[in-house]
This record gives sequence, structure tokens and C-alpha cells, in this order.
Amino acid sequence: MNKSLLVFLTSLLLSNAAVALEGNAAAGKAKSAPCAACHGNDGNSPAPAFPKLAGQGERYLIKQINDIKSGARAVPMMAGQTDNLSEQDIADIAAYYASKTSTVGQADPALVAKGAAIYRGGIADRGVPACSGCHSPTGAGMAAAGFPSLAGQYAEYTVAQLKAFRAAMDGREGRNNDGEGKMMRMIAFKMSDAEIDAVASFIQGLHN
Ligand code: HEC
Ligand code: HEC
Repeated sequence: MNKSLLVFLTSLLLSNAAVALEGNAAAGKAKSAPCAACHGNDGNSPAPAFPKLAGQGERYLIKQINDIKSGARAVPMMAGQTDNLSEQDIADIAAYYASKTSTVGQADPALVAKGAAIYRGGIADRGVPACSGCHSPTGAGMAAAGFPSLAGQYAEYTVAQLKAFRAAMDGREGRNNDGEGKMMRMIAFKMSDAEIDAVASFIQGLHN
């Protein structure tokens, strides 16, 4: 493991101590009603531009909802949705989605071999690490560390996120809420469109 990765992982584990509120999934189900139009009743969203939230780790969900609320992650479609959520509401909603099971899609047969190779082995000549190292071999992520589950996620959404991280690294408008370690920005920056498409397709069919 290289040194910057180790520092990054250690800082994530230390900041774990800051997670305080216990979420209540039953309360979260009711509180997530306004979210259902886009993210589905059980967190399996009906359209590929809307990420599936079912089975996502609580810690990651709490961080993203807070980032969307503060504007650290710009999601114009969610304008107003998070303004009135308290910390307890956010913890409850996260507990609800985390308790659900994600549906799985299918990988494009033409892309699956290339996507699997990147996911499991990275891209050695450009120093892109294996996705499985942080997102786990099954795509389940590491909930306690805040590493998101990717398994079964819509390829369209995953492509958009990787391109948004890449754009932010390039100084353009994008997604830059992956922390000071910039791990996802640095990874996506080294990937071509074709590599992003392939790994996203593989992830869409990935499951336990
Ligand atoms: C009008 C549609 C819409 C509604 C309603 C909506 N969202 Fe979203 N949400 C989106 C879109 C679109 C994205 C992805 C944006 C992007 O591409 O970055 C998103 C992203 C997210 C993410 C990040 C997921 C990830 O994998 O990183 C979370 C968490 C989330 N929404 C939670 C909620 C919650 C909680 C509510 C209700 C309080 C809600 N959303 C309501 C459209 C919606
Ligand atoms: C060193 C650990 C690490 C590695 C390696 C890694 N990731 Fe990530 N990834 C993360 C973390 C941490 C986040 C969450 C960032 C945040 O909190 O906003 C993330 C977020 C993501 C997201 C956004 C998920 C969502 O729901 O919006 C995608 C997509 C993603 N990674 C894909 C990949 C792919 C594809 C690879 C391999 C090419 C990869 N990651 C390698 C740690 C890693």
C-alpha cells in the first residue's frame, strides 16, 4: 500500500469517531417519501440518471446528503429537498436505504472483460489502482469506512460521476467532495472515456 493511500485510510478511520446519531429505519421510511419520486420507494430508482440508494452504506449516505445540503456536492435536481432535514432525519433516511437491497442490472457483453480487468486489477501503466481494493471484490464497498457500494448501480450514473470527478481534477466544474486525499478525482483523471464506460458497465452487473 502506498503512503498517501495509507494516510487517506487512516484519516477516514479517525473521522469515524464523529459519527454520533443512531438512525431509525422505520422513521426513515416515512421521511424518505418525498425522495421516492426519483429514488424509488425502496431506494431502487426507476431511471438510470437517478442513483440507486438501496443497500448503500449509512456512513456514505449521511455524508452525501450533508454534502448536497451544504452545496459541497452540487445536485441541482435536489434543490430544496434537503433544506429542512435535521441531522436525525438524515440518519433515519440513511438507515432506511441501508436496510434495503439493491437490484442488479446487466453488463454489456462487449465491455465486460475490459471492465472486469480494470475493476479487479486497475490500469497498471497509469497507476490506476484496482477499484476492488476500496469498493470490495463484490462491489459492496466498506460501509464502516464510508467507501460506497457500487454493485448494481446504473452505468449511466457511474459514468456521470467518474466524468464529474475527472472534470473537477481538471479544474472544471465537477464533483470534488471526495476529501483532501482526492482519491476519486485522481483515479478518474487518469481514465479515458472508453475505460470509464467499460468499468461502469461491469459495475452495473456486479453483485454478491
Ligand atoms: C427530482 C429528483 C430527485 C429527488 C426528489 C431527490 N433526489 Fe437525490 N438525487 C437526484 C439525482 C439526479 C442525483 C444524482 C446527481 C448527480 O449526478 O450527481 C441524486 C443523488 C442523491 C444522493 C447521492 C447518491 C450517491 O450514490 O452518491 C443521495 C444520497 C440522495 N440523492 C438522496 C436523496 C434524498 C434523501 C432525497 C429526499 C429527501 C432525494 N435524494 C430526493 C435526484 C433526486
Ligand atoms: C483508495 C480507495 C478507492 C479506490 C481505489 C477507488 N475508490 Fe471509488 N470511491 C472511494 C471513496 C472513499 C468514495 C466516496 C467519496 C465521497 O465520500 O464522496 C468513492 C466514490 C466512488 C464513486 C461514486 C459513487 C456514488 O454512488 O456516487 C464511484 C462511481 C467510484 N468511486 C468508482 C470507482 C472506480 C470505478 C474505481 C476503480 C477504477 C474506484 N472507485 C477506486 C474510494 C476509492
